[in-house]
Amino acid sequence: MTTENMATASQAAENKAVLSGMRPTGRLHLGHYSVLENWAALQEQYDAYFFIADYHALTTAFDNSSSIAQNVYDMTLDWLAAGLDPEKSAIFVQSDVRELADLHILFSMITPLSWLERVPTYKDQVNQFAKGGKDIMTYGFLGYPLLMAADILLYRAFGVPVGEDQLPHIEFCRELARRFNHLYQKQVFPEPQALLAKIKQLPGLDGRKMSKSYDNYIVLGADQPEIEKRVRQMVTDPARIRKDDLGHPEVCMVYTYHKIYNSEEQAEIKCECEKGGIGCVACKKRLAAKLNEYMEPIRERREHFAGKPQLVQEILQAGQQKASRKAAETLALVRDAMGM
Ligand code: TRP
Ligand code: SF4
Repeated sequence: MTTENMATASQAAENKAVLSGMRPTGRLHLGHYSVLENWAALQEQYDAYFFIADYHALTTAFDNSSSIAQNVYDMTLDWLAAGLDPEKSAIFVQSDVRELADLHILFSMITPLSWLERVPTYKDQVNQFAKGGKDIMTYGFLGYPLLMAADILLYRAFGVPVGEDQLPHIEFCRELARRFNHLYQKQVFPEPQALLAKIKQLPGLDGRKMSKSYDNYIVLGADQPEIEKRVRQMVTDPARIRKDDLGHPEVCMVYTYHKIYNSEEQAEIKCECEKGGIGCVACKKRLAAKLNEYMEPIRERREHFAGKPQLVQEILQAGQQKASRKAAETLALVRDAMGM
């Protein structure tokens, strides 16, 4: 490839928009990190938009919205800590882009109610919340996939990095894009595709899925004492009481983590554990040291931004401005197509 060709190829990629969002549910943990790493890789190649979905949080937390602002701030810090770069990505808060509300209302005019009612997660979630004594039979919650479609189409994104659980929503979005283009006989929207990355599922400290609700997580940006404390809580081989009991590393979470975060020493640790040559306390110390090393750059970036709330606000503002420019272009196309 000539240099000229290379420039055009990378420009084409740059012009392709990639977008994703997360609901602000509080501080992120190590299990979220590979998702963010994947986003950070995408920002190197594409015109990237990442937003904090505060409206989506409101769909289920409308009666308990007081923590949303704090969660938005924490999530912004976590994203920056994980390496999202405001020079490369537009990092913003969903509700700061006013054009989204316009597009959402225009889309609501062309969205068949039956499409929303048949989204597989919808009835499930309503029932699940009802069991917990909470009524989410709201217009807003029914419209969750529509709002998400507006999120994506507002930037005419071609790719959306999401987990498999979001595939029905992406499908909904594609159908809506097709319906719009067909109704108004204009190719305003590309049909976005889900970008399913091979995200490794990090198990929690107890071997279940790492999750806030199980309290089995290591918070992103944890300091050394916190990491040590969490590693001490990890479940080991129950057959090992004394140091010279022969161990079974394959049933031990500490070993599972050594495999992920300490591949250089994993073989040695397996061998030592099996012949009763290393105690669990020492083994955990070695893991905590490795995890601490791994966390260090993340923690440093988090602390850097946490000490500069003004800078964080400026980053979100710049992100909003960039996002709004693209959104305004799309909205003009939409209004024109609809004859408004
Ligand atoms: N529904 C997504 C989730 O729960 C979050 C989200 C909202 C989103 N809008 C989006 C993801 C647009 C991708 C694109 O994870
Ligand atoms: Fe697990 Fe390490 Fe103890 Fe073996 S020595 S059971 S790998 S903590």
